[in-house]
Amino acid sequence: MIFRPERAQVRPAVEADRPALRLLLRSPVRIHLHTDWRTADDYLGDAPYLVAEHNRWLVACLACPPDPPPAAWVRLAALADGRPMRDFTALVEAGLAALGELGAQELNILGPERWLLALLRDMGFQPLVDVITYLRENGPIPDQGARDVDIRPAQPEDLAALIPLDAAAFEPRWRHSAAMLRAAYRQVVSFDIAWLEGRPVGYQFSSIYGRYGHIGRLATHPEVQRRGIGTRLLVAALTALKRHGAVAVTLNTQADNWASRRLYQRFGFRLTEEKATVWHRRVGPDPVSP
Ligand SMILES: CC(C)(COP(=O)(O)OP(=O)(O)OC[C@H]1O[C@@H](n2cnc3c(N)ncnc32)[C@H](O)[C@@H]1OP(=O)(O)O)[C@@H](O)C(=O)NCCC(=O)NCCS
Repeated sequence: MIFRPERAQVRPAVEADRPALRLLLRSPVRIHLHTDWRTADDYLGDAPYLVAEHNRWLVACLACPPDPPPAAWVRLAALADGRPMRDFTALVEAGLAALGELGAQELNILGPERWLLALLRDMGFQPLVDVITYLRENGPIPDQGARDVDIRPAQPEDLAALIPLDAAAFEPRWRHSAAMLRAAYRQVVSFDIAWLEGRPVGYQFSSIYGRYGHIGRLATHPEVQRRGIGTRLLVAALTALKRHGAVAVTLNTQADNWASRRLYQRFGFRLTEEKATVWHRRVGPDPVSP
């Protein structure tokens, strides 16, 4: 007789699950973490955050909130070793249904681990774009860019004004929510806003990991792109990272984002071999199955 473990029960995570979730994530699990500036703990309270329970034990979890809507990312996924993949499939099905109810339009996952690939294919996810990595060794920073903008360190009260700017500059799946911007603000070493005639028209933030600097964000409002504002912000980021001791600076962009790639290459960034594929599916009926 073949032993088939009983199916786990899927339900929304609640605050009382916090200790059990921490235990699950510390035990042997297959895991996917893409929490960006937040932590796995921070996502409890967002929806959808689902758990699979078996014999009163949490055996799997999935957090994929549309943060901000209408695009969602898999932020946290875990499946206890020894549990069948169908526990996790049930979570993804429930996650997609919950996203539909919330009016979300798409679910994305960045650089899924091998244990997730077959499931993603079976559930109608497809590769969308590669996120690539550039690196620039320390060197002279050219003093270039628009002179008619003021580049000033962001203040906490400025962050709300970046939400519409972000929405104009990025497709939904790349936008940051207010919560994500606040979390980034607390952790980065430099966060600048470009002001033009009293209006925020661009921003950048950058952080330090050991001796490496990383530019986490660079954006210019589409109405004023191509007039040197991105260049000014990039100069500000590189200057700040050098001051903080970075020996090299990395950044990520999408393989098809030629505007940013040209800018980075002009500044001496070179492409590394590091990349992660975004897998994507629309929320709603499985686009692949009949
Ligand atoms: C990438 C971005 C920040 C550039 O900002 P910007 O203010 O337009 O940049 P600049 O005016 O300083 O342009 C500098 C160089 O970038 C390149 N560039 C900028 N826009 C470009 C475009 N639409 N097509 C091709 N190259 C472009 C060019 O090399 C340009 O120099 P040039 O005008 O002398 O040819 C801006 O396009 C943007 O915000 N895009 C959306 C958000 C984004 O993708 N951010 C980066 C990836 S996470």
